[in-house]
Parts: sequence; C-alpha cells; structure tokens
Amino acid sequence: MGSTLSTLDPYSIPIEKIDVSNPALFQDDTVGSFFKRLREEDPVHFCSDSKVGPFWSITKFNDIVDVDSNHAAFSSDASNGGVALENRMRRNFIAMDPPKHDEQRKAVSPIVAPPNLRNLEGLIRERTAAVLDDLPRGTEFDWVKRVSIDLTTKMLATLFDFPYEERHLLTEWSDISVTVPIESDVERERLLRPCYDYFGKLWTERQKQPPKADLLSMLAHSDAAKRMDVAEFNGNVLLLIVGGNDTTRNTMTASILAMHQNPGELEKLRKNPELIPSMVSETIRWQTPLSHMRRTATADVWLRGKHIRKGDKIAMWYLSGNRDDEYIERADEYIIDRKNVRQHLSFGFGIHRCVGNRLAELQLKILWEELLKRNMTIEVLGPPVRTYSNFIHGYESLPVKVSS
Ligand code: HEM
Repeated sequence: MGSTLSTLDPYSIPIEKIDVSNPALFQDDTVGSFFKRLREEDPVHFCSDSKVGPFWSITKFNDIVDVDSNHAAFSSDASNGGVALENRMRRNFIAMDPPKHDEQRKAVSPIVAPPNLRNLEGLIRERTAAVLDDLPRGTEFDWVKRVSIDLTTKMLATLFDFPYEERHLLTEWSDISVTVPIESDVERERLLRPCYDYFGKLWTERQKQPPKADLLSMLAHSDAAKRMDVAEFNGNVLLLIVGGNDTTRNTMTASILAMHQNPGELEKLRKNPELIPSMVSETIRWQTPLSHMRRTATADVWLRGKHIRKGDKIAMWYLSGNRDDEYIERADEYIIDRKNVRQHLSFGFGIHRCVGNRLAELQLKILWEELLKRNMTIEVLGPPVRTYSNFIHGYESLPVKVSS
C-alpha cells in the first residue's frame, strides 16, 4: 500500500493487498474503513507481505473470542513469537502459556483485586483532585502531558512503591519499551538497561524487607518469583509498567475527545452522573487502547474455511471486533448508556484477560467524578496527534483549554 494512506480508498485495491499492520493507518486514523472491508468481505484475511512478515487478521467479534479462548491452538509464548505483530522477544507472563503463565499471574493479581483497590481509592482521588485543581484556566495546554500522563505515572509509582520524585523515569521507560521508534531491539534493550538496574536494586531491597502491599514486594516474596530468571523478572516489570500506563493514559485522553465529538453524551452525563461507570466502559470500547494481540498457531487450524498453518502469525484486531455491528448495535457510535456496555474486547478474553481492568476503570471513574464535581468545561482546540503504532492505539497530544 502506498504512502498517501489517508486518501486511499480501501475498496480500490485488491483485498489481498490490504495490510492493516501499517502503523501510518493508525496515525492517520484511516484504519477503520480497511477493517470494515475485511469484516464484510474477508473476516479471516491473509496478508502475505508486510513489514512484520506474513500474518492473518481476525476482524469479527466472535472469531476473536474463539481465538483468544483457545490458548492451546493459539499460543502467546515468547518462544513462539509473543503477543505483538512486531515481536519483541521479551519474556513475561502475558507472553507465556500455562502452566507458567498461571503461576506468575497469580503472584501479581492480588494488588489489583477489589480489596486492594478499595485501599487505593482515596489516594487516587486525592491525586486526581490535585492535578485538576492545578490546571491552568483560559490558556491552551496539552491534555496528554498535563493530565493523562501525570495521573497514570503517579498511579504506577504508587503500585510499585517507586521513589515518587523519580516517577518520570517510569513514563520514559514505558515509551522506550513500546512507542518510541528505535532502530533495533538491541538498541532498545541498551536504553532499557537503567530500568532493569533500577528495578533490580529495588527488588533486592524488597526481598530483604518484610512483605508489603506493593507489586515489587509481592513479586519478590512470591513462590513464582523464586523460579523467575533475570530476563523474566525484567520482562514482568516492563509488562506492569506498560500495561498500567499507555492503556489507561490513552483512555483518559479518549474520554475528552469522545465527549468533544459527542456533546449530547456529555449533556447526558452531566444530567445523570450515575452513568459514569457505563461511560467508562463505553470509552474503553470506543478507544480500544490496544489495537491487537498476536498469537501463533501451534497446529494446523481451519477458521471460516481458511487453512491456518502451524507456526502462522495471527492478529486478533480488538479495534475491529469492537466495531463489528453484527455483534454490537451502532458499533461506530459513542453511546454512554448503551446496553451490555461491558461486553467489549478491549481487555481481551480468556486466560490472558487484562488483570488490571478494575484498576483502569477505577482511575477513569474517579477522573470523571472529579471533573463533574468541579463542573469543568474542557474545550478541545484542535485535532489530536495520534501514535504511530499498530499496537498502542493512542495519542501523543491533544490541545485543550479549561474555561471554568
Ligand atoms: C484501559 C486500560 C487497559 C486496557 C485496555 C488493557 C488491555 C489489556 C489486554 C488487551 C490484555 C491482553 C488480553 C489477552 O491477551 O487476551 C491485557 C493484559 C494485561 N494487562 Fe491490561 N489493560 C489495561 C489496563 C491495565 C492496568 C491498569 C494494568 C496493571 C496494573 C494492566 C496489566 C495487565 C497485565 C499484567 C496483563 C497480562 C495478563 C495475562 O497475561 O494474564 N492492564 N491488558
């Protein structure tokens, strides 16, 4: 596919030439019409030639559920290629199959389980309120930097009990790990060395201290950790940094953009703040912060009459499944009080379903409770700059002005 992507008509090219892994389509926000054509004409689609090599695209809601639920036939394991089309052979539990996956997931789940979230709620609210009260009034600023990044970074520092004044490092490492274009994986690993060293030091300290309720301490004292090598430890640290960072950050920005584009929905919310939890789920569906997860076939499989061979790469396009109007009514629209609002694919499905989903929802709920409480009017002054990635579906900046 050529370089003038935003003007390219997805119906003007032979279907086998469509390559939805091209990051420019996501940056231009034109990928939706390509997914629509695939859903309509070729929902299990093979692209034989792309920068990420040959791969299958699964674009319908129910097919994605089937693939995501079948971890025996569709592996996440790093040794088979991991969970992203642009594979970074990092070993962590999102990129592991059972039984190791289950063991390591179990070690970190308690921190983001409801009892611990109840303990965190006050702190999240306090920090959210402080960030909002500190925003400039009447002048333009970038919502991504001033609010979304600031809040999610503070949250991460709390989760890890990471030295608070150095928390900007977490954002830096998260960006290096996924979004910043870097020449090679070797170079990326070199840039992440300080992260590994820092966490290695914290890990040793926490191991010597009595157990506490932060992620690192939980990992350090878990049985699973005793069987983790250094690469796995580094991989899991990065998974938790990235998992809790970009995704929530981009949903916070998305909520402002969605309300700007759908003023009627904002009105609905102002009149009826009890809709906040439903609006949060709708925003997470509408945005779909991770465009895809990748799997690798462990055996020959037939899907909708297509022969997927052992070793083939498969992308489950959550972003497309969430726009499948055979499953979700008026799927292209943003409707904060839609029925079955939690039935979306943004958190995945099956054994790898997002472990941090309740925490992400809590952060977003609190943000909107505090925004409404202050009756803040946020004016979007221009289009967002979107991330150049087929994996992280998000925003680099969004110019806004707060007028009350
Ligand atoms: C709106 C925010 C979020 C979205 C959209 C999201 C999305 C996802 C998705 C799609 C998966 C993979 C599911 C699959 O393969 O079936 C996942 C897994 C994961 N997420 Fe999230 N996530 C979010 C927030 C968070 C937060 C706040 C944390 C951490 C505190 C987190 C930690 C993880 C971890 C550790 C996994 C791996 C789970 C496993 O492999 O068993 N996520 N997430």
